[in-house]
Amino acid sequence: MTKKDVYLHGHDESVVSHHAMRTAGEAAAFFRPHMRPDMNLLDLGCGPGSITVGLAEWIPEGHVTGIDFDDSVIESAKKDAAERGLTNTDFISGSVYELPFENSSFDAVYSHQVLQHLSEPQQMLREAIRVVKPGGVVGIREVDWGTAGWWPKSESLSRFLEIYNAVADRNGGDANMGRRVRSELNKAGYVDVTVGAGVWAFGNPEEIKGWGEQWARRTLESNIAAKAVEYGIADQSELELVSEGWLAWSRDPDAYYTFTHAEAVGWKPA
Ligand SMILES: C[S@@+](CC[C@H](N)C(=O)[O-])C[C@H]1O[C@@H](n2cnc3c(N)ncnc32)[C@H](O)[C@@H]1O
Repeated sequence: MTKKDVYLHGHDESVVSHHAMRTAGEAAAFFRPHMRPDMNLLDLGCGPGSITVGLAEWIPEGHVTGIDFDDSVIESAKKDAAERGLTNTDFISGSVYELPFENSSFDAVYSHQVLQHLSEPQQMLREAIRVVKPGGVVGIREVDWGTAGWWPKSESLSRFLEIYNAVADRNGGDANMGRRVRSELNKAGYVDVTVGAGVWAFGNPEEIKGWGEQWARRTLESNIAAKAVEYGIADQSELELVSEGWLAWSRDPDAYYTFTHAEAVGWKPA
């Protein structure tokens, strides 16, 4: 039977609505130079598919398959692709640990913010190198929460990060996965592995309001909240304080938040 980790965020509306705002232009710009208009691409852990559909638009003569183990996000990705009139996408339910594809089926594989949630990141990377063709390329973008910085100082935001890290650890993931990606790709047998960085910065009133309100909700409503309580990492009253702290921080005219993603590219030996 395929192994299933506890997915840190869960699929609450407060989580999926945020993922659905992501775009290929922001999340996959580092990978675009390696894409060709006619390539066959796989997006691992595609979520609601907002990045996947952008990738499809970049390769009009090619094809993108998105895979995710959650049926609800797959349904929403299919709907979005249909509404955009895209005919070069497929979305399927399945695990990144056990891809339902023959060896060497794809020209390229992309993944955004998935590896950090896996207790066995090597298993996903070995599957990715198996299904990509010899000489094919894999692009991985992973957050590194250890690079997070914010102003003004806030005990609630500091505590939030402690809770987030503790829940991720307990689930077997790594919230600082970004810094490990080059090493993980090397270990899985990729060659010519290079890593750059993509920065998320929230520095204007609209961005700060969106970032603060989103985490205020997710601190109370997502899987992070449920697991933090279940694991004894925080109780409900502390989560409420942290959530209020996010809102208070987001109303401060001096507020600023930033962190980086590792943007890695590796190749299957030809
Ligand atoms: C943080 S979300 C990223 C979604 C999308 N790539 C994006 O950036 O918008 C992580 C996604 O990985 C999926 N996921 C986690 N573990 C998985 C597994 N073992 N197999 C397939 N999908 C998985 C989750 O369901 C979730 O949709």
